[in-house]
Amino acid sequence: MTAPLNAPAYVKHEGLKKWVGEIAELTQPDRIYWADGSQEEYDRLCAEMVKAGTLIKLNEQRRPNSYLAFSDPSDVARVEDRTYICSAKKEDAGPTNNWEDPATMRATLNGLFKGCMKGRTMYVIPFSMGPLGSPIAHIGVEISDSPYVVVSMRTMTHMSAKVFDTLGANGDFVPCVHSVGAPLAAGQQDAKWPCNPTVKYIVHYPESREIWSYGSGYGGNALLGKKCFALRIASNMAREQGWLAEHMLILGVESPAGEKTYVAAAFPSACGKTNFAMLIPPEPLNGWKVTTIGDDIAWIKPRVGKDGVARFYAINPEAGFFGVAPGTSEKTNYNALATLKENIIFTNVALTDDGDVWWEGLTKEPPAHLIDWQGKDWTPADGKAGKKAAHPNSRFTAPASQCPSIDPAWEDPAGVPIAAFVFGGRRATTVPLVYQAFNWNYGVYMAATLGSETTAAAFGEQGVVRRDPFAMLPFCGYHMGDYFSHWLQMGKTVETPPKIFCVNWFRMNEQGEFMWPGFGDNMRILKWIVQRCQGAVGAKETTLGWMPKFADIDWSGLNINQSDFEVLTRIDVNAWKAELAGHKEWFDKMGEKMPRELVLKRELFEMGIFRDAA
Ligand code: GTP
Ligand code: SPV
Ligand code: MN
Repeated sequence: MTAPLNAPAYVKHEGLKKWVGEIAELTQPDRIYWADGSQEEYDRLCAEMVKAGTLIKLNEQRRPNSYLAFSDPSDVARVEDRTYICSAKKEDAGPTNNWEDPATMRATLNGLFKGCMKGRTMYVIPFSMGPLGSPIAHIGVEISDSPYVVVSMRTMTHMSAKVFDTLGANGDFVPCVHSVGAPLAAGQQDAKWPCNPTVKYIVHYPESREIWSYGSGYGGNALLGKKCFALRIASNMAREQGWLAEHMLILGVESPAGEKTYVAAAFPSACGKTNFAMLIPPEPLNGWKVTTIGDDIAWIKPRVGKDGVARFYAINPEAGFFGVAPGTSEKTNYNALATLKENIIFTNVALTDDGDVWWEGLTKEPPAHLIDWQGKDWTPADGKAGKKAAHPNSRFTAPASQCPSIDPAWEDPAGVPIAAFVFGGRRATTVPLVYQAFNWNYGVYMAATLGSETTAAAFGEQGVVRRDPFAMLPFCGYHMGDYFSHWLQMGKTVETPPKIFCVNWFRMNEQGEFMWPGFGDNMRILKWIVQRCQGAVGAKETTLGWMPKFADIDWSGLNINQSDFEVLTRIDVNAWKAELAGHKEWFDKMGEKMPRELVLKRELFEMGIFRDAA
């Protein structure tokens, strides 16, 4: 028997109720619960999860209203090889996405979802990506059998019962269906972290704008407003409607004169977006100030502003940070740590003896004893033997409003005007510290050929360089060649498009050490970028683009000399020959949809490199 619908009176949308009823009939939950996003509901669900063993309540004095979850070891990161774009035609998903015929996939998923919520509660989660009612925002409703997803969505999205008012009787929403894929037989004891250790599917139907996720309870696999909606589905909407949905942080830079410049930056997963978004300038540059609008996703729409000029305006569709814990410390990211004071859900970090959390890099010396992310005793001897106390992709879920550097305009429904786009990857060699594209189309080329070493944010081999165009490889919901064309086109929709820059914080010396201090010192590069936008600083022309001369960067308080700088910014011609051959291979993979413009740019670029070599 199907559980009663239980829809509250304020839900007026018959189509939505019908859909919830259909999913209940398919999945057979014991009960249906309509979430309202209230504090009372959050506290109640957390208390229930503490009872069930899913959450550990942290020490109320040290970390008020905060919890720790240990996930199943099979469920610790995004699963890119289980992620599908099921467009009607295979060629619309393109060579970088997994594709399955939608009818075949629907049959598979119908089989998996049949009865999959037995013994569980089905939660209906109303949320807005972007401030409710903003012209840039869009609404979603997620059905999930995971209370961890409900409380996480409350922090990560604008989740509230008011969404139903905005939807009214027939508003548009993106339907998201999620199950951990672990039905319970009568009387069966539940797992602490229910999931399906072997069967996982993260599926998108771009034409009907639906999301179906099965088998995982973790991060981007399960919090469907994030990567699934705000990037994979939204990139399809953006292409159709003439805007951009990007894997970008958004930050504001205030100069000592009080002038404000907004910058959006795309780095692949676990490559420093959160750090960059919350940067604190080093002491000698402290007349400069960085404010945070978002740390992971930007929705960007061209619009004529109050000043009569057409520009790109960006919002952060999220309301929280799902940030990488390891490496986060008072030194590397003071603002993140300050954000983590209370109201946090930690996942897969270690538990201290006094009921607080720890992860590699939080302090120089680890505590004498911990419970590691797998629930086992851990001592510094284990650490010396290479056993991590926190999983490398362990994360915190934190309200953005708690961030000391949050920009006053972070929830402005109008968005903030973007002056520069920055692209960066994790490259031990080849790619210089910073360079600026000669123009928009050349910038699109640079972003389209972005490479980065893989990280723990996704399952699979780590540290291998792969092409990650625009840091969107796992997130673009359609053919990557069409996406490049869309970007080329979008440059024409604004008066003067943002300047485009490439950075690399991760160049290494022969000893395998980072050559650039990074973190707060990235302000020196950001300052050059902002001043380039204002035409206030010099550069020299190179084959790659405009690069700072030594004297163009503010070095005050940092011990870097001209020869260090030359190593950091060197263009190794032989490495670039190989790099450009890699670009060709990559472009060939795109097939017929590869824009000619970029193919020709590559040839010109290669001629330049060969000329440099001669
Ligand atoms: P997602 O949330 O996965 O999209 O990633 P993100 O880009 O927000 O990642 P995050 O900022 O959390 O990256 C964390 C990793 O980047 C940690 O290992 C940091 O130590 C490292 N990192 C961040 N900034 C720098 C930097 O300037 N230099 C170096 N060497 N490492 C950095
Ligand atoms: C990423 O992997 O880029 C993330 C984390 O931001 S997740 O939401 O899990 O995808
Ligand atoms: Mn991300």
